[in-house]
Amino acid sequence: MSDGPVLLFDSGLGGLTVLREARVLMPERRFLYVADNAAFPYGNWEEEALRDRIVTLFGRLIEEHRPSICMIPCNTASTLVLGDLRAAYPGMSFVGTVPAIKPAAERTRSGLVSVLATPGTVKRQYTRDLITQWASKCEVHLVGSVHLAALAEDYLRNGFVDENAVQTETAPCFIERDGRRTDIVVLACTHYPFLANRMRKTAPWPVDWLDPAEAIARRALSLLPSQSGEAPDGPDRAIFTAGAPDAATRALIRGFGLRA
Ligand code: DGL
Repeated sequence: MSDGPVLLFDSGLGGLTVLREARVLMPERRFLYVADNAAFPYGNWEEEALRDRIVTLFGRLIEEHRPSICMIPCNTASTLVLGDLRAAYPGMSFVGTVPAIKPAAERTRSGLVSVLATPGTVKRQYTRDLITQWASKCEVHLVGSVHLAALAEDYLRNGFVDENAVQTETAPCFIERDGRRTDIVVLACTHYPFLANRMRKTAPWPVDWLDPAEAIARRALSLLPSQSGEAPDGPDRAIFTAGAPDAATRALIRGFGLRA
């Protein structure tokens, strides 16, 4: 399996922000991108049903594609099922993506940090535990956004996004207290970095928008089994659980070097 593709799994197109970084660090590897878009967005799913769905799906993916490693560039999935996946498939390495609360707590100067994520990630015990463990000296605001992931997908496909809608979703991240202001916003959904420019433009003051994509790719590289032969030629592939993607999505993923 060490020669199998690096599998990246997300509910939709957000994991492409991590694929970009993974390609830079692992240029000799083949990648398989899996979008569970039949279930997009994950943010509003009931936990038990989503857990069962993802664990079952991975059984099929591992059997069919024999990946060398599985990356889950999706906070909403990782904060829920990482432990279950490791228990169900003990021979496989899983690299998760969880809110970058520890680096944010280390970097903040004002002590006011916001975590922008899907409603699912915001309510997870995993996220709350990260705050207790790493950020007890800071004031952390969890901001659940219902619409941002879908806005990012629309923007990717159509090149247009309503800036007012982006501003409405990000506004609760900005807190002022006793002369201090939020100085870090953790982008705890892999879709959000695609909207980072719009977020910057519509922010009431400058903050550091923390995107952990590169750190996730580094972690995967450190766990990747070494290759015994050369990777097969040909383009990297993408699989969509909802079936063949539309023309706009096909064109988009081609830009990321993927074929459906
Ligand atoms: N990209 C995802 C994340 O990192 C989830 C988006 C969604 O399906 O709601 O959380």
